[in-house]
Amino acid sequence: MQQPDRPRLYGRSKGRPLRAHQTALMENLYPLFEMTRMRDLSAYSEIWMEIGFGGADHLVHLARNNPEIAVIGAEPFLNGVAKAVAGIEQFGLKNLFLHHGDARDIMDILPDGALARLYILFPDPWPKTRHNKRRLVNEAFLKDARRVLKSGGGLYFASDIIDYVDWAVTRIHHNGEFEFLPQAPGVWRTPYQGWPGTRYEAKAKKAGRPCHYLTFKAAA
Ligand SMILES: C[S@@+](CC[C@H](N)C(=O)[O-])C[C@H]1O[C@@H](n2cnc3c(N)ncnc32)[C@H](O)[C@@H]1O
Repeated sequence: MQQPDRPRLYGRSKGRPLRAHQTALMENLYPLFEMTRMRDLSAYSEIWMEIGFGGADHLVHLARNNPEIAVIGAEPFLNGVAKAVAGIEQFGLKNLFLHHGDARDIMDILPDGALARLYILFPDPWPKTRHNKRRLVNEAFLKDARRVLKSGGGLYFASDIIDYVDWAVTRIHHNGEFEFLPQAPGVWRTPYQGWPGTRYEAKAKKAGRPCHYLTFKAAA
């Protein structure tokens, strides 16, 4: 489904070989929760999406704590998807839908204003200048993000890479269709209440890198 004119944005798509049970889950349970063009989510009160959910801790937390919401997760890294499927099994989730691949494939098939929330948490930093073009948050992506978010919908961005924070804020500002939501001074230093943490956030903290949590509202 990858569109030929799009650069690949992610690094590795496989880690350690899956264990037998994970392989069985990918074969038997994943297809039931795969997010496809045909999936009807109209019974849910809202749809939220997380891009690049990695170890799936935040994604599974969202789905567990919000059974009335359809939560979509997209991740090209197979081992991460297997973790999300394990979460579906462990917690008996019914509202978590997965795409093993590029999130932009799913954004392409979502109708305008489909999402109430879009999470991008610790995206791959691509720190070398020659790789900056692989950063997820770019002009085309923000245009699509605004299209799939309903007016007033939330764009949640977190990163420990200050250069990427600057990069994202600059591009979101230029896009002009998102409003920054600083409810209080310094709010970008703390995540939202009830935040479960993510694996990359933990790595960043361990390495002493401060994390930034920015919330934007899609304009009317
Ligand atoms: C640095 S990791 C962060 C993982 C997780 N959000 C966390 O905070 O622990 C970034 C993740 O984004 C995924 N990713 C990169 N490009 C993506 C894309 N176009 N669509 C979906 N996921 C993507 C990568 O595979 C990787 O797992």
